[in-house]
Amino acid sequence: MALLQVKSVSVQYDERKVLDDVSFEVQESTITALTGKSGSGKTTLLGVLSGLLQPNEGTVLFMGDNIFKWSDLKRSRFRNRDIGFVFQFFNLFSDISAYDNIAFPAILNRETRNLHTRIMELAEYLQITDILDRNPTTLSGGERQRVAIARAIINEPKLILADEPTGNLDTATANDILKLFARLRDDKGISIIIATHDERIVKASNVQYHLENGKILENEVRKEEHKIVKKKPITRPAAKIKKKK
Ligand SMILES: Nc1ncnc2c1ncn2[C@@H]1O[C@H](COP(=O)(O)OP(=O)(O)OP(=O)(O)O)[C@@H](O)[C@H]1O
Ligand SMILES: [Mg+2]
Repeated sequence: MALLQVKSVSVQYDERKVLDDVSFEVQESTITALTGKSGSGKTTLLGVLSGLLQPNEGTVLFMGDNIFKWSDLKRSRFRNRDIGFVFQFFNLFSDISAYDNIAFPAILNRETRNLHTRIMELAEYLQITDILDRNPTTLSGGERQRVAIARAIINEPKLILADEPTGNLDTATANDILKLFARLRDDKGISIIIATHDERIVKASNVQYHLENGKILENEVRKEEHKIVKKKPITRPAAKIKKKK
């Protein structure tokens, strides 16, 4: 079964349909690039996928379950436990340490068993052990984004929603973050949906969805002559999901 099934989702602001009958699926252990020009509805769609934004029509199934039929409490638990969020501007708390930033979602989720060990293991995995006691304001963009990714995965989510995660990083750092996403997919079986303008992310993804005029086009890219042409899926076979623990 697909991890996420998006079914005929429409979102309308005033008269304008930002998303118009959008349907697609996201499989486990895949990277999905969500592209489209500014204002095409990428962030709106991520809002719907996380259950934060109720669409005017249509629905989202997470592991077969309709997330908009859940109570607000269940939906917020889902957001906190099953989804990790990564943003362009990192959105870290600036007045607490990197360590405390990473710990925060686990404490919120009351999942503090072995928390210190989990943080230290994650820090090693993400190569941020040496910066854990520092305040995010003293960190570089790449370091901040790795802390933000640690925070996103401390609760071992099945899904990461990333909104232009490399938008504020230089090329080399963006490449590092991209490799990290691929490792998370392959090592931990996480699915990652990335709203992006970054061609390198598209190339490194398993699937691309392109938003245009409210519609979604699967595995299609804009060519120089501005024609939408069908392109073969950018697939690498999804890695076998390795069992955690
Ligand atoms: N709360 C809102 N009320 C009214 N219009 C909104 C609201 N949120 C978004 N929009 C509009 O919906 C459209 C899609 O916005 P969205 O932020 O999803 O685009 P995007 O693809 O993420 O763009 P960008 O690449 O610039 O981040 C835009 O025209 C935006 O102005
Ligand atoms: Mg956006």
